[in-house]
Amino acid sequence: MLLLGIETSCDETAAAVVQDGCEVVSSVLFTQDEIHSRFGGIVPELACRRHSAVIDAVVEGALLAASVDLRELSGIAVTRGPGLMGALLVGVSYAKALAYSQGLPLIGVDHLAGHLSSVRLGKRDVRFPAVGLVVSGGHTNLYRISVDGSLQLLGRTLDDAAGEAFDKGAKMLGLPFPGGPALDRLSETGDPARIRFPRPSLKNGRFDMSFSGLKTSLRYYLDKSGHPESDPAQIPDVAAAYQQAIVDVLVEKTLSAALRYSVRSVFITGGVAANRLLRKEMERVCREHKIHLIIPSPPYCTDNGAMIAAAGFAVISGGGGPDTDLEMSPYLKTFTDGFRLIGSRP
Ligand code: KG4
Ligand code: ZN
Repeated sequence: MLLLGIETSCDETAAAVVQDGCEVVSSVLFTQDEIHSRFGGIVPELACRRHSAVIDAVVEGALLAASVDLRELSGIAVTRGPGLMGALLVGVSYAKALAYSQGLPLIGVDHLAGHLSSVRLGKRDVRFPAVGLVVSGGHTNLYRISVDGSLQLLGRTLDDAAGEAFDKGAKMLGLPFPGGPALDRLSETGDPARIRFPRPSLKNGRFDMSFSGLKTSLRYYLDKSGHPESDPAQIPDVAAAYQQAIVDVLVEKTLSAALRYSVRSVFITGGVAANRLLRKEMERVCREHKIHLIIPSPPYCTDNGAMIAAAGFAVISGGGGPDTDLEMSPYLKTFTDGFRLIGSRP
């Protein structure tokens, strides 16, 4: 089954052709970093306009790179929410028109189901039961995944998403947008042990998380020390300590859920899963506890079209029908209802 996946929920216009929900035939992405970097954050109106300017070329590029004709597709999967309203509207309207004109089934996909489905890309050995973390700029959700692939939300951030903590922390440190990757790079030269930032809700026995207090403590630290202006040389240490605090919370919560439910696998997905320290620490603890770990390669952690096609395949395989009247849904909250991830055949 050959699906076209389209993603426009935030600031990336992406399309991909994926075979059977796991084999990426092509993946094309137009990133808007340059447009938003001037403002230090995503400007929804600009994101929406740029999506409409480039979506045609991005989709055409994905089909060309795959050497696939529209008539060879089995369907079109598109992100319907959650995300920026105008941005979602571009993707959904485009996918709807294309599906209608070609007589193809249209499948609406939740963005978070998309991130979780990225674990299948590259035909990986996906074993259940599992614990899956979606850690992005807008969400930090921890799921328990049963043997049948169904999802149960175990915990989530009570305030800021981890990606937001990265982005806002980076901004305070004077780093360029997007902050997460910049903070990741800068931390490499720093000593995380020189400063100790709090790890909120680390050992409370629950799976909810919180990152806004950490952000405030960075603010206080910078105000008190006068950094970065007073001593730019200290900034890598501050960045490394701040990153370590975020990563410690994510690792501890994910690992304790994995141990509590005796799972076979742990999945780490979403933009922050590209973070090198998080990847390294998760690899270390999963090796120690002999748990199979899947973290997609960095281009499939951040927003992409392939994960949307993979999720679309899961929807169809689970008996979900196509939806020609699909509407975008910026505040979509109930995606776990009925969504089932696909695992490897035993
Ligand atoms: O999944 P994603 O591309 O978009 C959303 O669904 O939000 O995630 C974007 C988030 C941003 O907050 C970005 O700063 C963060 O992922 N991110 C990183 C890294 N790469 C992207 N955070 C830390 N380290 C990275 N290497
Ligand atoms: Zn995302």
